[in-house]
Amino acid sequence: MPTKISLTRYLVEQQRVDGRIPGDLRLLLEVVARACKGISHAVTKGALAGVLGTAGSENVQGEVQKKLDIIANEVLIEANEWGGHLAAMASEEMDSIYLVPNRYPQGEYLLLFDPLDGSSNIDVNVSIGTIFSVLKKPEGSPGVSEQDFLQAGAKQVAAGYCIYGPQTTLALTVGDGVAVFTLDADQGSFVLTQEQVRIPEDTKEFAINMSNMRHWDAPVKRYVDECLAGRDGPRGKDFNMRWVASMVADVHRILTRGGIFLYPWDKREPDKPGKLRLMYEANPMSWLVEQAGGAATNGRERILDLKPGKLHERVAVVLGSRNEVERVTRYHLEAR
Ligand code: AHG
Ligand code: MN
Ligand code: MN
Ligand code: MN
Repeated sequence: MPTKISLTRYLVEQQRVDGRIPGDLRLLLEVVARACKGISHAVTKGALAGVLGTAGSENVQGEVQKKLDIIANEVLIEANEWGGHLAAMASEEMDSIYLVPNRYPQGEYLLLFDPLDGSSNIDVNVSIGTIFSVLKKPEGSPGVSEQDFLQAGAKQVAAGYCIYGPQTTLALTVGDGVAVFTLDADQGSFVLTQEQVRIPEDTKEFAINMSNMRHWDAPVKRYVDECLAGRDGPRGKDFNMRWVASMVADVHRILTRGGIFLYPWDKREPDKPGKLRLMYEANPMSWLVEQAGGAATNGRERILDLKPGKLHERVAVVLGSRNEVERVTRYHLEAR
């Protein structure tokens, strides 16, 4: 029976053996993983814990909040506010940043999260998740401000997600590839089940919300039309389609067997570049995908190079199997 490697041991090795992460970052990631275990517990109880349905409030995105959006947000705040590793947090569900109470020592990290991704799937028992991203607080700035968070995704020091599905699985990168951990409910610990994840460069599977087709820009329409044309079309092969409407589930599938995920700009809200949020959805997912050998762009530029202007900024997302993402980028550049 191979030795089980826990998340704790993996992180200690990243700290002590490879010197890749400092102790404070290791402890922060352990706290986040523990918070995800708590969220997983609430998700699994569902109606029995009264966590389904809407909370009747709206978030800064203009979305009606689900009870679990708020519960997951609170679990992450409470778990992290006194840990001593953080200076501040930012969340999809909070208008502005959350400063660690000054009665606790301030750490040097900034934690950003989408506490509950896939909210439209909560009440129908489809996989949902939590997405997180860690940045370092810029040196020298006395306090902490929203400006400190506005760093390009390439500056992340850790990124990951936890998917609450048939298994509760945590995918994590600290810059040494992608490791996947599965929650052993008997032990209550995350156990390493995959390391150095690789996304195949080619795929026959695309993920996009097809109901928005009439609103897309020409390059995206061209790409999807060619996929739909199958083996008799210019691609010379048939494609399959998936759309879970939980980014964590679509990205986990792509990390596991390849594929391309698109949430492009569409003309329903022409002044917004896309639906997904740059800081706590696109950036962490893009780093994970790149660390697994895939690519992630907004259709034209590498997502991790984008300089954010606002905390809740949105972005178009095209990510997954490298050769497919590059094809979509080519179609955008040809359409100029
Ligand atoms: P969230 O639930 O955190 O607001 O995110 C939902 C996002 C993302 O998870 C998913 O890919 C996308 O919204 C689905 O959008 P549609 O419902 O428009 O397909
Ligand atoms: Mn989300
Ligand atoms: Mn969310
Ligand atoms: Mn939301």
